[in-house]
Amino acid sequence: MSVKYRFPEGFWWGSATSAAQIEGAAAEGGKGKTIWDHWYEIEPHRFYDNVGPGTASDFYHRYREDIRLMKEIGHNSFRFSISWARLIPGGRGEVNPEAVRFYNDVIDELLACGIEPFVTLFHFDMPLELQQAGGWESREVVDAYEAYARTAFRLFGDRVKKWFTFNEPIVPVEGGYLYDFHYPNIVDFKRAAQVAYHTMLAHAKAVRAFREAGIRGKVGIILNLTPSYPRSSHPADLKASRIADLFFNRSFLDPAVLGEYPRELIDLLREHGQLPETREGDGELLKEGKVDLLGINYYQPRRVKAKEHLPNPYAPFMPEWFFDPYEMPGRKMNPYRGWEIYEKGLYDILINLKENYGNIESYVSENGMGVQDEERFLKDGVIQDDYRIQFIRGHLIWLHRAIQEGCNAKGYHLWTFMDNWSWMNAYKNRYGLVSVDLKTQKRTPKKSAEWFRKVAQNNGFD
Ligand code: BG6
Repeated sequence: MSVKYRFPEGFWWGSATSAAQIEGAAAEGGKGKTIWDHWYEIEPHRFYDNVGPGTASDFYHRYREDIRLMKEIGHNSFRFSISWARLIPGGRGEVNPEAVRFYNDVIDELLACGIEPFVTLFHFDMPLELQQAGGWESREVVDAYEAYARTAFRLFGDRVKKWFTFNEPIVPVEGGYLYDFHYPNIVDFKRAAQVAYHTMLAHAKAVRAFREAGIRGKVGIILNLTPSYPRSSHPADLKASRIADLFFNRSFLDPAVLGEYPRELIDLLREHGQLPETREGDGELLKEGKVDLLGINYYQPRRVKAKEHLPNPYAPFMPEWFFDPYEMPGRKMNPYRGWEIYEKGLYDILINLKENYGNIESYVSENGMGVQDEERFLKDGVIQDDYRIQFIRGHLIWLHRAIQEGCNAKGYHLWTFMDNWSWMNAYKNRYGLVSVDLKTQKRTPKKSAEWFRKVAQNNGFD
């Protein structure tokens, strides 16, 4: 078979998931509560169709079947996250032996199927007890996270060689402290900045712990990068775009890869009295947090323009003081989810990493297409998701081009393996290569699964 777009040997093909989104068994196996279990208990109406995290996609009970299916559809690698509250139910203290058994089994089954495990330590699921003790606003929670990371490295580091401290650390900041889509539903920039800062300190402590543990592998972080594009080359639009980039990308990318925050961001926050509290020695610690490997989650770009009206100086400080969203005429949209599709954004991210971030080793850790009411595409028992094939193909072409131009990208993981529970959106948008019947939990590969299998097996496509 001719392969026009061939990827480098050993390229990682697979998909990504997270514990709270697939495991289910939320109150089984000795697991402690997370903020999601709690929020659903107190405000179920905030979740799409009132569906909470209780069962999710039942991976906890079906992981063997699922892992075999991953193998069939060409995975040589797979990212999942450990549930902190499952491993250490109260967030600190005793380790739960049932959780150790479960994650050992998952890892062993993956390895037996020739699938390399990529493990995330934190994917939005804060143990409730730690949230009640202050969450990421508290330095003690930073220390609890370090202890949790050390425990995970000790238990699983003999077999897991790719570790990620956080998935999209900006999302709990935005959701929980700025825009009200995660618990604890606070809207306060200064507290958000503290949470963001402490998350990066926790990250750095985990990176240091990883290196001390002597694991022969790589440690990284997963960032959702949203390349920022200005409406025009007018200086005011350029400035708006630069500031959006500072808030939404560089606030995590710079400390993770360069070991320090951008000077322009510090100056801007200082000018507005929004700097978080720091302590002596933090700067050194952040430097120790430089990653070996960066995961890139890419879904959509951010387009902005200069503000049309000056912000009200008495209104609470928000990033949106500095730019307005720009709906570029003619942009291509995903009609089933409402996000822009801009495949070249992935290439732009990688070129930026090459030019400004030492060409850090990276891979696409999430990219995917969400579709609402996907059953409408069911034919002969299989979801005919040609739109997803096109979506993936379009992104892979730009990824391939970036690699040809010397970018250091080593793999592509789709979001996601099977339809899963997505926080407040629950099962609204389906992303899987495999569909899940929510009543029976039956798994059925979609058309894209067969296409993906071929791409992975041929290490490329025509
Ligand atoms: C990603 C997250 O940003 O978006 C996932 O890492 C999430 O956890 C995914 O499920 C899709 O989000 P949504 O809202 O379209 O279901």
